[in-house]
Amino acid sequence: MIKNEVVNCILARRSTRKFTEQQIKEEQLETLLEAARWAPSGSNSQSWLFTAIQNKDILLKINELVREGFQHWIPDDDYPGKLGAKASSSREDYNFYYHAPTLIIATNRPNYENAMADCALALENIFLAAQSLGLGSCYINHLHWLRNDQELRNYLSELGIPKEHTICSSAAIGYIGKESNTPLRKDGTIHIIR
Ligand SMILES: Cc1cc2nc3c(=O)[nH]c(=O)nc-3n(C[C@H](O)[C@H](O)[C@H](O)COP(=O)(O)O)c2cc1C
Repeated sequence: MIKNEVVNCILARRSTRKFTEQQIKEEQLETLLEAARWAPSGSNSQSWLFTAIQNKDILLKINELVREGFQHWIPDDDYPGKLGAKASSSREDYNFYYHAPTLIIATNRPNYENAMADCALALENIFLAAQSLGLGSCYINHLHWLRNDQELRNYLSELGIPKEHTICSSAAIGYIGKESNTPLRKDGTIHIIR
């Protein structure tokens, strides 16, 4: 296998779940958002919106809305991540973005079939750019699950996230507080036909 700077960055990236309190630098945030903008998008739609939130009080308010949202949210399947997210939301120390100092929320226009794909690619750009800058990152799904929660949407709308947009995903970003273990990769997931 060939190793170069990009490949090494891809292999070294891990999902961070413990961040320090230190905010990332403005230039770093700009770099992450620019990396997101340069992701591929279906028919070059670029219909996404990346909203970066670095205000602790606003993040905590969103955390409370997520906590409340999960109380009356009924998962539409038994995907373990969803069930775990709902169950853990009742914990006193609950924080869905792991107290990261920066949360980037990716939303997209409604009724666009590539909405999730485009935002996921943009998020991976963010994660890899973060890794290259010595920052930690983690994909956070909770706002997607609660994308139709009225209280949450009202507040996000006040922050400038259009109500008609679908919430695709979000990225927690910050300096790494604790390195994550490396989950093993499953065998049998590659198939080459020559
Ligand atoms: C679609 C998607 C949703 C995810 N949602 C969450 C999440 O809500 N919270 C979380 O801690 N990690 C989340 N993750 C991160 C995965 O748990 C992680 O990528 C996986 O365990 C592999 O670990 P690694 O990223 O360190 O290689 C998500 C990843 C993806 C691709």
